[in-house]
Amino acid sequence: MATQQSRQNAALGAPERRIVIGVTGASGVVHAQRLIEFLLAREFDILLSVSRAGRLVMAEELGVSNDPASWGATHGERLRIFPEKDFGAPFCSGSFRFRGMVVIPASMGSVGAIANGVTINNIHRGADVALKERLPLIVVPRETPLSVIHLENLLTLARAGAVILPPTPAFYQHPRTLDDQIDFVVSRVLDALGIDNQLFKRWSE
Ligand SMILES: Cc1cc2nc3c(=O)[nH]c(=O)nc-3n(C[C@H](O)[C@H](O)[C@H](O)COP(=O)(O)O)c2cc1C
Repeated sequence: MATQQSRQNAALGAPERRIVIGVTGASGVVHAQRLIEFLLAREFDILLSVSRAGRLVMAEELGVSNDPASWGATHGERLRIFPEKDFGAPFCSGSFRFRGMVVIPASMGSVGAIANGVTINNIHRGADVALKERLPLIVVPRETPLSVIHLENLLTLARAGAVILPPTPAFYQHPRTLDDQIDFVVSRVLDALGIDNQLFKRWSE
């Protein structure tokens, strides 16, 4: 008899249309929201996990009523949300194929866990799987200033193959609003996943 999990898997689109997203307890949750909205509008399948601390920051920065389930308002069936302790989530196994994973925002706690192969939740495990399977892993770390421990953990991840993509604003595209800056960061994440987008005016275009 098919389990609920296997039914979920059966409904997923092609592997290159599946993006795993981990939201951890760092500032800048709005980047994850925008990324997910963009990907859903382009009919990608999203497998999302939000850490306990991620939910705290989400409530603080986006408001308690802003639940990630509502981000899939228009394409809800493509947004699957897994509890952080659900190690039966598809992306916890290397045999499950997906295009790539984004940890956005990535707390220094989660950066440390992933860099050291410690899988406290399924976000860490998903990142572990992406690295071992040589699938794209994009880590959007948020902290300032950075300690030597943070920097060494980030270097370990970069050496293991992750793309370290800090949500650093740029000014050459003359942003007018905060949304412009958010789109800039999200655009660079999409670039790292190889997903075509025109979220900001690129240099020399
Ligand atoms: C409002 C708020 C903002 C936070 N911002 C950051 C941050 O920007 N970077 C960071 O590394 N930790 C931040 N923290 C602390 C982390 O949430 C904390 O270290 C937590 O254990 C991370 O757990 P996780 O990686 O499982 O999500 C913040 C916590 C709160 C409550």
